[in-house]
Amino acid sequence: MTIVEPHTEPEILILNGPNLNLLGEREPEIYGRTTLADIEAMCADTAAEAGLSVRCIQSNHEGGLIDAVHDARHSTVGAVINAGAYTHTSLALHDALKSYDHPIIEVHLSNPHAREAVRHHSYLSPVAAAVIAGAGAQGYVHAGEILIDLLTNAKAKL
Ligand code: DQA
Repeated sequence: MTIVEPHTEPEILILNGPNLNLLGEREPEIYGRTTLADIEAMCADTAAEAGLSVRCIQSNHEGGLIDAVHDARHSTVGAVINAGAYTHTSLALHDALKSYDHPIIEVHLSNPHAREAVRHHSYLSPVAAAVIAGAGAQGYVHAGEILIDLLTNAKAKL
């Protein structure tokens, strides 16, 4: 008899917001040519090196992002989040993330601070442990590494 063990690695939430499903095609001069599937695979590799797995969710809807955060509250150990334009508008996502009691790394492919003024404010930054912006797709890998460092240090303190 073959017994299939349920996967037991702790999970990291990789959450992407509106229009990021179009990565690779959408304004490549700003966001690059790497697709979201490629980015998710890069995050999975980074997580696997630390014995973690990823839960990758993308939604074009504010409520979809909020539901994903609620679902992840007790079943993930940290999150890498690019909320796209909701970064700059969503008090509701900010409130949901306040109920998420694990480290959050905010990531942006572009550097919103070097762009239009409307992109300078972030509702995520006040609840994020770190922010990576302007490093393109590689920023997600950096964000994952920072998250893993934070989780490892938290464990070392126990
Ligand atoms: C973005 C920056 C946001 O201002 C924009 O609305 C996005 C993508 C980024 O990754 O650079 O959709 O979050």
